[in-house]
Amino acid sequence: MSEPGAAAADRADELRRLIAEANRRYYELDDPDIGDDTYDALLNELRALEEAEPELRSSESPTQKVGGRPLGRFEQVRHAEPMLSLANARGAEEFRAWETRLHNRLRTLDIEPGELRFVSEPKIDGLAISLTYEDGEFVRGATRGDGVIGEDVTHNLRTVEDIPERIDDAPELLEVRGEVYYPRAAFRRLNEARAEAGEPAFANPRNSAAGTIRQLDPAVTASRPLSIWCYGIGVQRGLDLGSHSEELGWLGRHGFKVNEDVSTHESADQVVERCLWWEQRRESLDFEIDGVVIKVDQRSLWRELGVAGREPRWAVAWKFPPMTATTTLNKIVWNVGRTGHLLPFAMLEPVHVSGVTVSTATLHNEEDLERKDVRQGDEVVITRAGDVIPQVIAPLVQRRKGKRLRRARPPKRCPVCDTPTVKPPDSVFTICPNRRGCPGQTFQGVKHFVSRGAMDIEGFGEKQAYRFLAEGLIRDQAGIYDLTSEQLQQLDRFGETSANNLIAEIERSRERPFGIVLYALGLPGIGYVNAQALAQHFGTIEALIEADEEAIVEAEGIGPILAAQLREELADEATLDLIGRLRERGLSFELSESERRQEGGPLADKTFVLTGTLGELTREQASAMIKRAGGKVTGSISKKTDYIVAGDSPGTKLAKAEEVGTEVLDEAGLLELLGAEGAGAEGAKVPPPGRRR
Ligand code: IVH
Repeated sequence: MSEPGAAAADRADELRRLIAEANRRYYELDDPDIGDDTYDALLNELRALEEAEPELRSSESPTQKVGGRPLGRFEQVRHAEPMLSLANARGAEEFRAWETRLHNRLRTLDIEPGELRFVSEPKIDGLAISLTYEDGEFVRGATRGDGVIGEDVTHNLRTVEDIPERIDDAPELLEVRGEVYYPRAAFRRLNEARAEAGEPAFANPRNSAAGTIRQLDPAVTASRPLSIWCYGIGVQRGLDLGSHSEELGWLGRHGFKVNEDVSTHESADQVVERCLWWEQRRESLDFEIDGVVIKVDQRSLWRELGVAGREPRWAVAWKFPPMTATTTLNKIVWNVGRTGHLLPFAMLEPVHVSGVTVSTATLHNEEDLERKDVRQGDEVVITRAGDVIPQVIAPLVQRRKGKRLRRARPPKRCPVCDTPTVKPPDSVFTICPNRRGCPGQTFQGVKHFVSRGAMDIEGFGEKQAYRFLAEGLIRDQAGIYDLTSEQLQQLDRFGETSANNLIAEIERSRERPFGIVLYALGLPGIGYVNAQALAQHFGTIEALIEADEEAIVEAEGIGPILAAQLREELADEATLDLIGRLRERGLSFELSESERRQEGGPLADKTFVLTGTLGELTREQASAMIKRAGGKVTGSISKKTDYIVAGDSPGTKLAKAEEVGTEVLDEAGLLELLGAEGAGAEGAKVPPPGRRR
């Protein structure tokens, strides 16, 4: 065989370097700078080179390994069986080619492929985790790391509610594998809060899940609502089930979260249909998926088929088109946020990302911009997912090649009202101080006010906010309630029906409860959760307006900085004037009778802990019912716990509860408590039976 060409060898070296750097950023820093598509392209190019010139191949090549060394801050754990990677198929054609190869292989092994079954599962874009149980006790949780050695993150995983501490009827040894993920809605809230606090935003839910699991303080992990989907069994002693689908069923029955839409198929056609079904649902799920994993169901065939390099032959990942893309950032421009922060966003060379053309993307805040060092003229990686605004993840620094690119600085004057901007001491933000006079801030305020989760006025979005302000139909939020159908009908593209509908929606929004109205006001730092806490704590807007900082920090989750900001905002005449005008228009500025009743509800001051899998209710539903009746739900048992509600496969919490003498309830006992003590029909409503698998 001839020597590999120098050019090919150089290129292979360069590709290995780029892949190693990409792995490091992805696995170790949780901060990738290239998208999956670019990564796959690099890896494929290297594979092709190595295939054409086998001399270039080495066991050290990333084509032979799963990326990412462990971080070194945690104890290292050697996986009893390597955690493998998956071969990719991009769409139906490549999947069918994989299936043909599978058949051929089975034939060479003298196995009759007639009985072949497949299992399809969502490919969760989270953090791969291995959970080890000894005699039913959760003893160790580890990340994948390089597939052979991972990190011991047991303490952090113990704070994830959906990971059982104990399982009943357990085999001697059991390793469960799954993907920890950050629910999308919670991720959006987390990033909003981080952006407001001047902290770097996470690029996507995957990175926030990884960042949350791989940090040293379990209290931080506990404060974040991580969840898990379990997708398989690794090593085991005493539980040899014949098929993968039986394993998933077993896991579901023993308290592990297994996705209820996992299904088995008899033919490749069925698999294709299912993958297209998943792709359609992709954006409506509360967890990110980047494809579908298809596995041969029969475990005996796994052993026969074996592994090629780092990829098992019995499974394949049907990958969806990437949600990331690379493009040129032409210019950084500044917008003003609803509380005056100047916010950078990127004007991009238009680029296609999963079916949508993207030409602008957010850069979150000043701090984020500086940390990422994004410059005008950079090639950047952008991502979009569902209804989340496209965002710039990172510049491709290696593509700058000596070009002198300009950094963007916040402007000296507000881009909307031209007021000189200021950067208060101790703040990471430059702001427009024209709080209630800046049309930019008013526009953002109206946009937030009508949005979903706030006053939720259907048919009133960004466009309408802009138009009604520009046409002088409204001056601010209060003006919305003076709009008439006749006024709207004067506008282009507003017919009688659409005008009447919008007015009806506006009317309906007058009924929204105090906590929501408080959130809709968009006070600095007051997100949804804080607004509810303030409403519950103070009961009326007067009480809140009159409260000093010391009284405000008494509300759950409000710290001194937020309290000071709130104090300042509520001392502002313009804010008080707006509140007054909204009140004149009939909006609620105090808790209603029924909301108050909950305050002194039947379970007021009672503290509950939930453990194990309940029969009819999910833990979330049980928790919501308890809270509705005035009770509190906490994560761990203490002397202050009044009740523990234990379902199937309860965790160690039950033993602890018995130790400290906490009263133990089953689901029926809980329902009785809620019903008997007058939680009312609504409080005790039981959803139709149906447990998660
Ligand atoms: S099976 C050898 N099932 O995808 C089998 N993996 O690209 C590999 N993943 O490391 C695991 N959802 O982190 C499997 N339903 C699923 C999955 C899944 C997500 C991840 C997992 C794995 C990676 C492989």
